[in-house]
Amino acid sequence: MRFHSLKSYPQLKFDSIAIPFIFEDVSAAIQVWCARINGFKKTVEEEIEIISNQSKDKYISKLTRERLKSSLKLKRQYIKQITDHLKCFDKYAAEQYVYSGNKVAKNQGVDSYINNIFRDWCWNNGENEELLESISYVVEDDYHAGLTLTLGAGASRCSYDFHQKYEAKHSVLLDINPVLLGCAAKIINGETVTLNEFPLAPLKMQDFSVEQECKVDNITQQEFSFILSDALNAPLTEKTFDTVLTPWVIDIIPMDFKEFILQVNRLLKVGRLWVNTGSLAFLHSKQQWNYSQEEVVDLLKKYGFDDIQVNRSKINYLNSPHSAHGRIENVFSFSAKKKFDSLPLRKFNYLPDWINDHSTSIPNQDELMVHSSKHLLQAQVLSAIDGERSIIKIAKLLAKQYDMSEDSAIAAVRQILIDNL
Ligand SMILES: C[S@@+](CC[C@H](N)C(=O)[O-])C[C@H]1O[C@@H](n2cnc3c(N)ncnc32)[C@H](O)[C@@H]1O
Repeated sequence: MRFHSLKSYPQLKFDSIAIPFIFEDVSAAIQVWCARINGFKKTVEEEIEIISNQSKDKYISKLTRERLKSSLKLKRQYIKQITDHLKCFDKYAAEQYVYSGNKVAKNQGVDSYINNIFRDWCWNNGENEELLESISYVVEDDYHAGLTLTLGAGASRCSYDFHQKYEAKHSVLLDINPVLLGCAAKIINGETVTLNEFPLAPLKMQDFSVEQECKVDNITQQEFSFILSDALNAPLTEKTFDTVLTPWVIDIIPMDFKEFILQVNRLLKVGRLWVNTGSLAFLHSKQQWNYSQEEVVDLLKKYGFDDIQVNRSKINYLNSPHSAHGRIENVFSFSAKKKFDSLPLRKFNYLPDWINDHSTSIPNQDELMVHSSKHLLQAQVLSAIDGERSIIKIAKLLAKQYDMSEDSAIAAVRQILIDNL
């Protein structure tokens, strides 16, 4: 495998499996994950404390007490399962760091997308097969995937199935999240991962918290490697891969899809295939980045791809057998052949230049303005609480200052108080 000087990066060990941790600023990325592991522990510990206090209420029924007891047990186990899995970070926990140009996006937490692990390796409810079928509408059955890279592989079942169906020579699975990718690596290497699931809308009493065993049913010896890294600045050599796969990822990254096309283009060999599937629900604050299906195809053509096949198909999505909640998604799949090398890449920066260069002016940004007005109002409401004032009294103070009607001020104060309860 051709990486930029792989030796200079740490290898994180998930049991016996070592995964290279390839970030531009390794120590910043490690420290972000250490902080997120602490945050994860604190959050679940707080939940445990709340449940534990409530379970002491003498008026609750026997059944309720039993349910809370079981939740407590499985939540405690859950902390241990996740922190044991991530113990490779322990030795870095006390190090100090300063943010450089990059960071790990704030919406990527320790247990983000955790249900993907159950869907991929445990529920066995047909969803993985449906996803592979959606790909089969845009990739010929006799396609040979060759050296394949998945960006945002997550728990990696889609990459695993794709590897088998299209007889990949070797698959490189890249993701930013050490829980998902570490679990995937263990499972694909034949281990069983025990992990507790907490379904969104439990069907029955025993579905509130469920100990799950995640594993591959028919393990076959295959060629896989794993990389913990950022797909937006993937430190891999250009024109290395025969196939790049992007399942459920293009619309969740904080990058303009146009720029992401250049990243994929850089990694692919000319004449080879980019295969995508998943949702197309961009949620950028910049509206011009929230592309339609037609714009996606148009951009692909503009930035070096042709022979573009597209398909929409309805599939089940995250329907846990233990939950009343689940979705149907009309997934957008495409395959696109790289025709030519597109423009040279700019490095992707999560942080704007004015954060790193302290002498640069901070531009007037709508988002910051909106946040600051929210914070200001919130601070005013909260500081007006003196043990005597009611919602109406606080609203009257604000209504005068902001020239609002009293009714809208009451609604705003009420909402702020609810948000802070
Ligand atoms: C919706 S999940 C999809 C996971 C997997 N592809 C699947 O089909 O289940 C999105 C994945 O993208 C990963 N991800 C998000 N931002 C990333 C980044 N900058 N670099 C690499 N992976 C990223 C997340 O950790 C997560 O595994």
